[in-house]
Amino acid sequence: MSGPDGEFLDAANNVAGVGHSNERVVKAGREELARIQTNGRFLHPTRSRYIRKLLDTLPEELDTIYLVNSGSEANDLALRMAKQYARMKGNKNPDHTICIDAAYHGHTQSIVDISPYKWRQCTDGQNYHKPHVHVVSVPDTYRGVHRGPNGGEMYAKEVEDIVDITGGVGSFIHEAIMGCGGQIVMPEGYLPKAYKKVRESGGICIADEVQTGFGRAGESFWQFEKYGVVPDVVTMGKPMGNGYPIGGVAVRREVAEAFAASGIEYFNTYGGNSVACAIGEAVLDAIEEDGLQKNADHVGKYLRAKLSELMAKNELVGDVRGYGLFLGVEFIAQNSTEEEIIPNADLCKFVVDHLKNNRIITSRDGPDGNVLKIKPPLTFTENDADRLMAGIEAALGDSVERN
Ligand SMILES: Cc1ncc(COP(=O)(O)O)c(C=O)c1O
Repeated sequence: MSGPDGEFLDAANNVAGVGHSNERVVKAGREELARIQTNGRFLHPTRSRYIRKLLDTLPEELDTIYLVNSGSEANDLALRMAKQYARMKGNKNPDHTICIDAAYHGHTQSIVDISPYKWRQCTDGQNYHKPHVHVVSVPDTYRGVHRGPNGGEMYAKEVEDIVDITGGVGSFIHEAIMGCGGQIVMPEGYLPKAYKKVRESGGICIADEVQTGFGRAGESFWQFEKYGVVPDVVTMGKPMGNGYPIGGVAVRREVAEAFAASGIEYFNTYGGNSVACAIGEAVLDAIEEDGLQKNADHVGKYLRAKLSELMAKNELVGDVRGYGLFLGVEFIAQNSTEEEIIPNADLCKFVVDHLKNNRIITSRDGPDGNVLKIKPPLTFTENDADRLMAGIEAALGDSVERN
């Protein structure tokens, strides 16, 4: 990636999934812009072709797609659908949602309500926790409230308890791997149990793949595929247009039919415009033809192994997690014990800044700001991974001298 004064290695921007200024994407967008169709009330060949290709990436149960303009819009539409579907199923609280603490799903009012990452930042004294929103713990089996191999089931119990106490909720939404929450992978046993309970109450389960989708998981095209579940709704965005605004909502037919039965016609002026579809198609073609999902798998495993080696020799690296090219490195304090793991935001900030000064871009997040986020374009190579590793090791070396 080039900047005003030279090259940077980008290990942070998952929006540019198929690479910055990808030629195929630029060409597709430029050509289609000369004949753009918006306000789309008619079928358009580019849109039909794109939707078919996108459906091919999904399990057959998810057979209907709505196109929107951003991840926030996708999640907002998902909530509308959940509400309508749950109402038709006789659910007691169709507009109630279970979300995960520290989750971020977008910036509109309805979505900030279900994004504790955002509303917990509120400093004006208002309590942003809305009564229709039920928050469960971050399913972190390393440093969260339930740890170890049974953590997944214990976290699922929190979801089950809310369904029991309320008599049912319209939806349960989760990121496929939590980004702002600190690169938290959904633990084994969590989603199958949580999904079952929510569905029994006539609610639906929404997987937010805005950060994680489009080949980034490496072994699978979508991250949720690693958890042995098929969501009722999958929301997507960010890398879908490689920087051009496009989002999507993939749903089971039953959910789409319930939504249509509300009688409210769904219309979106720009959602699914022909430039968005041409670009979306070019992104899918690039992933396929340039082998980018395979690359995410290969380089992701290579990088993860190197990070794990680093963890084995450096006690300040507490955890390494993630799949493909969506990885997190958790920094902890030297005086941490098994019972009390102390986050080390200071060190994480030092590493991110040190990397940036050496022209490598990463970011940090998590409720304590101590998790290094690695989510580069899928064109990231082994050499890039080596450069990133050398940068992290140099930063850790200099951090010792600093003390
Ligand atoms: C997991 C997740 N969902 C949804 C969104 C919202 O997407 P957008 O910014 O395109 O509205 C984001 C944005 O960062 C996100 O990280």
